[in-house]
Amino acid sequence: MASQEAVGAPPEVKAEAEAKKPTKQQIDPYNVAGEVDESGNVQAIDYDRLIQEFGVQPLTDEHLQRFEKVTGKPAHRLMRRKLFFSHRDFDKILDAYEKDGKFMLYTGRGPSSGSMHLGHTVPFLFTKELQELFDVPLVIMLTDDEKYLYTRNKNDGHQKPGNAVEDFLTFAHENIKDIIALGFDLKKTFIYSDYEFLGGHFYLNTSEFASMVTFNQASGAFGFGGSTNIGLINYGAEQCVAAFPSSYPDLFGYKDYRAPDYDLSAKRRHKALASIPTLIPCAIDQEPYFRILRDRCERMTDPHPKTSLIMSKFLTALQGAGGKMSASDPNSAIFMSDTPNQIKNKINRHAFSGGRESLEEHRKHGGNPDIDVAFTYLSYFLESDAELEDLAQKYRSGEMLTGEMKARCITELQKFVADFQERRAKVTHEVMRQYMTPRKLEFAGNPNATRPSAKEEAVNGSENGTAPAAEASAASKDGRGTKGERKAAKLAAKKDQKLASRPKADDAAEPAPQ
Ligand code: TRP
Repeated sequence: MASQEAVGAPPEVKAEAEAKKPTKQQIDPYNVAGEVDESGNVQAIDYDRLIQEFGVQPLTDEHLQRFEKVTGKPAHRLMRRKLFFSHRDFDKILDAYEKDGKFMLYTGRGPSSGSMHLGHTVPFLFTKELQELFDVPLVIMLTDDEKYLYTRNKNDGHQKPGNAVEDFLTFAHENIKDIIALGFDLKKTFIYSDYEFLGGHFYLNTSEFASMVTFNQASGAFGFGGSTNIGLINYGAEQCVAAFPSSYPDLFGYKDYRAPDYDLSAKRRHKALASIPTLIPCAIDQEPYFRILRDRCERMTDPHPKTSLIMSKFLTALQGAGGKMSASDPNSAIFMSDTPNQIKNKINRHAFSGGRESLEEHRKHGGNPDIDVAFTYLSYFLESDAELEDLAQKYRSGEMLTGEMKARCITELQKFVADFQERRAKVTHEVMRQYMTPRKLEFAGNPNATRPSAKEEAVNGSENGTAPAAEASAASKDGRGTKGERKAAKLAAKKDQKLASRPKADDAAEPAPQ
């Protein structure tokens, strides 16, 4: 496995390996590295600066309160502890849920190797909780194509052994089994590999979206240049339109359009699906994709409301802040396939300590939990706020030693990984195929939606096009759509005209989508 991972090295490793001269912090989908100072020391990632630079919003206590009010449940520990720390239009997705009762969740993973590590589980754990709390559909995209194109690009155009297209598809399947083992509800979850699923309405959306992104815009967001392969340049359009419910008609009971199973009534993308809003939980390095997405959602033929985002920090490498866990450096990460002993040794040998030089010093001045990697991992995985607070306090006072903090961390991670492995062993190929089969998903959304017709639509199909529309496959027999679809189409076309004639404002200044 180590050799596979070394070849499929993710981007951050390269950035770290080259980080000898002073460099600025660099965060984008292909690089995650803290600033390197004059003396060559890697600094912790500065998330406040990132909020400024990206122009995203911090997640506040008010958001937490509102979240708890809407869902009637306490927020997930990752949100309580602000490890999910920033957002775009999170308020709007809550508004939509209160009013219309539903939205779609979308997240993904780039399968750069066959094994996932602890850091990879973080966005998925959070997404799972959101899906349960809101009772909404979820799509998970495995970007085997992105990772193939990226890896080949990184290797100066060469394809190394074990890095063929099929190898990345295999990584995707292995990762999908890992993701399933985190406990997603089959009834409301669809997981796919790009190589296997793309086509139909998804591809119609991709083509339209790609036509709105110039080479200059893509280079600006991702650092592409003249020697970047053209596959990678185009890839971003896929990751963007994956956020549109209209890319997945089957999941909402509508027909897709794929040869040779022609159903001409389904040839046109379903406008009714375009208006369902989407929330994307992701790590903040993915933000550049979704900046491009948000700027263009409302310019699609069937406009989609600007996608909402909720974004996390990175799970620190064992060596400490400034880098994230990386699959290509086995000593930086704890893998979901590690044995209890490997976990113990990795934490004991490699986890950066916020303790003092000597026992005496530590007892006298206390340690610093904020930079202590064992404590940091506990802040992601330990459920009890009270215990976490107690550990921090005892560490600070010098009552608790580094070895003791590490021991607590080891127990917690061993348990998390062992529970995971038990579930993973049960994920057969057959189970995987069930999650990967396009089918109508079952979800109820918000039972207390305030818009009077919202509930009715959920049962009977939609007048304005935002409901799952159980009977929708009966619609569009003549290819013109139902009366409701035609009415919605007219309205949307009007809105489209308005949008097109308006001077283009920047992201923050644009008015709220309806
Ligand atoms: N590009 C992501 C990666 O390399 C995978 C991905 C696709 C994704 N769609 C996403 C991640 C949506 C978060 C949200 O890991």
